[in-house]
Amino acid sequence: EAGGDPAITEIQDWNRYSGAGVDQSPYGMPSPFEKEAVRRNVPWLTADPVSSVNFTPLHALDGIITPNGLCFERHHAGVAAVDPAEHRLMINGLVEKPLVFTMEDLKRFPRENRIYFLECAANSGMEWRGAQLNGCQFTHGMVHCVMYTGVLLKHVLAEAGLKSSAKWLLAEGADAAAMTRSIPMEKALDDCMIAFAMNGEALRPEQGYPVRLVVPGFEGNMWVKWLRRLEAGDEPWQQREETSKYTDLLANGKARRFTFTMDVKSVITSPSPQAPIAHGKGPLVVSGLAWSGNGVIKRVDVSVDGGRNWTPARIDGPSLPMALHRFYHEFDWDGSELFLQSRAVDEKGFVQPSKDALRAVRGVNSIYHNNGIQTWHVGTDGAVENVEIS
Ligand code: MTE
Ligand code: CO
Repeated sequence: EAGGDPAITEIQDWNRYSGAGVDQSPYGMPSPFEKEAVRRNVPWLTADPVSSVNFTPLHALDGIITPNGLCFERHHAGVAAVDPAEHRLMINGLVEKPLVFTMEDLKRFPRENRIYFLECAANSGMEWRGAQLNGCQFTHGMVHCVMYTGVLLKHVLAEAGLKSSAKWLLAEGADAAAMTRSIPMEKALDDCMIAFAMNGEALRPEQGYPVRLVVPGFEGNMWVKWLRRLEAGDEPWQQREETSKYTDLLANGKARRFTFTMDVKSVITSPSPQAPIAHGKGPLVVSGLAWSGNGVIKRVDVSVDGGRNWTPARIDGPSLPMALHRFYHEFDWDGSELFLQSRAVDEKGFVQPSKDALRAVRGVNSIYHNNGIQTWHVGTDGAVENVEIS
């Protein structure tokens, strides 16, 4: 350019005048230029926003930690506005000594900090029959990953003294849905947590303030928010959320139930329909997320030709069990069309299946537990679309 780039030669306002003072935002907000970093609802999916879901903007994020304000929300009766001073956690059923804890009581148990993903069993559920929603926010955004601070459930249960007949635990929420799920006692005594903080601050109301159950690697529905009661029992309770919901109706009319562990899964977050390639050909950073309820991710492969050829991607950042993993695949894009896919492998050797392989086993009746390989079509103009190839 004759006069040089005005972004260099002109003095900008932010360079000329002082900015906002330290009292401007006691709780900070992102730059107003980051317009993509918002949760979004798909209004036609549910009848009412009070029993609904919004989605994590995966395409606008990097690394493995989800910022608190961007964690997808799923609730069956809206966000309960719980006063922590009035909140109680009760333990009853097959215990020696039924107990009631205040929040203060809970915070006197030894604490742990753990990073885990939470994935709703319905994540990618709208894609069972074919490509439907155009953006990884909508196809895969019912997942988040934060650091929880809390206490191990086993310490709290030990205080009440479990009877030997106690094989299951019912967790109940204090919201108007009073959501309840049966959890195998083995899991409850292994790594479940009662969490009161996420990413260093108190849980957000949307995520169950003041206290939620953390059930690592298991489907999100079991992570009861606004946790108010734990009942020990000798068999599952057959609640709505584990019978009519969160079960998978197979082609033969039988249903898979108690599908607790979220299987190995991955998705390319950029480029993706909401994050097209804007810079033309040349160096391209392909980035994505992988996770498994079975532990750590061992490998992620990326294909640019719809699964004909695979190249191992580079996993960067912490590789923690049952947490999101970030992967990158860098290459020189020649401007030709691509069919981008990622395929994750976990520590138990499970390999993420193609959608067709999954349908061959599970049919197409379910809206839950879809961990099939996602395909993005990249056009020569850099635009990206949700497609399927067979
Ligand atoms: N807990 C209560 N009390 N009420 C609810 O509606 N929704 C469940 C679970 N725990 C729910 C709940 C579902 S279906 C999911 S996927 C997760 O919470 C979502 O957690 P999040 O809102 O923190 O993303
Ligand atoms: Co859910």
